[in-house]
This record gives sequence, C-alpha cells and structure tokens, in this order.
Amino acid sequence: MIGRFTARLITAATVLLSAAAAADGPLNVLCSPQIEWCRLMVATFEKETGIVVSVARKSSGESLAQIRAEAHNPVVDVWWGGTGDSHLQAAAEGLTTPYTPSSFNDLLGWATNMSEISGGRSVGVYAGAIGIGYNEDLLKARGLTAPKCWTDLADPSFRGHIQIADPNYSGTAYTALATIVQVFGENEAIKLLRAIGKNVITYPKSGRDPIIAAARGKTTIAVTFQHDMVAEAVAGYPIKIVTPCEGTGYEIGAVSIVKGARNPEAARKWVEFSLRPDIQSLAGTARAFQVPSHSKAVVPIEAPDLATIKLIDYDFKTFGSPAMRNHLLSRWSKEVKE
Ligand code: G6P
Repeated sequence: MIGRFTARLITAATVLLSAAAAADGPLNVLCSPQIEWCRLMVATFEKETGIVVSVARKSSGESLAQIRAEAHNPVVDVWWGGTGDSHLQAAAEGLTTPYTPSSFNDLLGWATNMSEISGGRSVGVYAGAIGIGYNEDLLKARGLTAPKCWTDLADPSFRGHIQIADPNYSGTAYTALATIVQVFGENEAIKLLRAIGKNVITYPKSGRDPIIAAARGKTTIAVTFQHDMVAEAVAGYPIKIVTPCEGTGYEIGAVSIVKGARNPEAARKWVEFSLRPDIQSLAGTARAFQVPSHSKAVVPIEAPDLATIKLIDYDFKTFGSPAMRNHLLSRWSKEVKE
C-alpha cells in the first residue's frame, strides 16, 4: 500500500519535474571561465533544478561575437563569466537584458558597480588580477632573469619565450592590453606591446592557455590572470607569480541574460544560482581561485589576495565601452600582431 502510494507520488513528481523542465529548458549557457568550473556549475544546477543545460565554453570576445551574430534569433540564454569589458560591450550594443538579482544588496561593491555601468544588464560574479607567470625550472635552465615589470617583458633575452592570448578573442589578453594602456598611456603602451610582441611566440585564443603551456614546459613566461597561475602551481607545476612593478589591472567576471532569450525564466534561475554564496563557495573544488562576488561566499585560501596586490584604479567604464574596446583592438591588430 505504502509502496504503491510512494510510487504514485514519484510518478507525479516526475511528471511535474519534466513539465517544469520542458517549460524551462534546455537552458543554453555560454560559459567563459575555465571549463572545469563550467562543468561543475552545470552538474550542480541540473541536479538542483531538474533543468537540462546545454553548455559551451568560449572565450570572452568569442562569446560576444556569437551573441552578436545571433541577435535576431538568440540561441544562447545566459552568458556566465568572462571578463566584464565584453559584457559591458554587449550591454551597450543592446544584446543583453536588465535583471536585478535578489542577492544584489549582499554583493561586493565591484560586482554591483558592473551592474551600474551596464544599466543593470550585467552583474559581477568574481574578480581576479592579471599578472606575469613563469616556469621557474625553465627560466633557470635557460639562464634567464625573472621579469619584475611590464617593461622587462620587452627584454631581448626573452625572444621566443613569452605567450599571451589574442585580445580579439580573449578577455584576459584584453585586460592586459587595457591595463598597459592605463599604466603607460596609449601610444607608449602600443610601443611597449610591439617590443614585447617580438618576444611572443604565439597568441592563442583562450586567455588561460599560456600558463597551461608554461606549466608544461612549452613556454617560459605567460601573461594571464594570477588565479590561473595558482591553479597550475597547486597542481604541482613550478610556476611563480609576479605582479608587475608598475601595478596591474583586474577583471570583474560577469553574468548577463541575453535579450530575447528563449528560456528567460531558467536564465534568471541560473543567475540567481550563480550568485548564491554556497554555490560560489564551490569554485575552489574546480580549482577556480577567483575572488567571489557574494560577501558571504567562502574565498578559497589559494585565491590571490587583491588587497595585497598593487592594483591600478582600473577604469571599467571607459575600457568596456564599445568605442574604446574597438579602437584598442583595431590598433593592436594593426600595430602589435605581426
Ligand atoms: C580564465 C580565468 C577567468 C577569465 C577567463 C577569460 O578562465 O580564470 O577568470 O574570466 O579566463 O577567458 P578568456 O579566454 O576570454 O581570456
């Protein structure tokens, strides 16, 4: 009797669940942080909500390009993570839609600042500082001196030893470009980047790839986010982290709902979910060592402490505006990449 009753309940619950899932999903998520974190988020969200998620990992600039290309017939519902500049450009181009999460008042100032700049279309999920990482063993074996400053990267002894991503695709590389412009002024920055470019062996699409290459001995020096360097060091690779002596910039990783999304309800659920302190506190288990945006989330002990890093007063509004972003990317493509 009890068995039959339970079975009926389960059947009813299953019907309800699949009805909810059918109404809400599958949810299409474009995910720009590290793939391990994307997978963890999807698995946890699916288990909790019963909503099926289809996820693709793409770099920040590539994600923006996809959402722009699909503007008249959106496939992506929600874009989670990736550097704030590309989310701000999407907002300015009217590709995303305003949403104020219920946790708004518990988010840190830099996270809500992203919402203010974007007209409520994006909100910060995490933060992280850019830096220079190097493979200590390789550096020694090659008789090189560790770089301390941005300008050191132009030293001819580093010819063929540096990797940084292409800022047209990668938000990491765009953050480095915008940082160097803010530190040195635009023309000096382009000059410096041209000189550094002589030492760069390749410009991959994904921001994290250079430090993965350095960890595995495929390059000596990488410019990436410092938390991506920590992930390699924690995995046992001989990676050392440098905050450039002139000061460095940082990202605010963001989340945005695509305008005209086919699954707006599920997209809002995803945003709510991704801003919850318990969910943000899981990031370290996927070796994602960014600083979380919810004030009550647990910061992984491995996360670089932004309070002790020499950060510049990064101007997110200016460097996330389409005019500045397009301008700098065009100069970089014409004058830096050869
Ligand atoms: C890595 C970092 C993230 C960052 C992302 C940007 O995954 O850990 O903090 O937002 O790169 O990726 P992209 O490929 O656009 O540089």
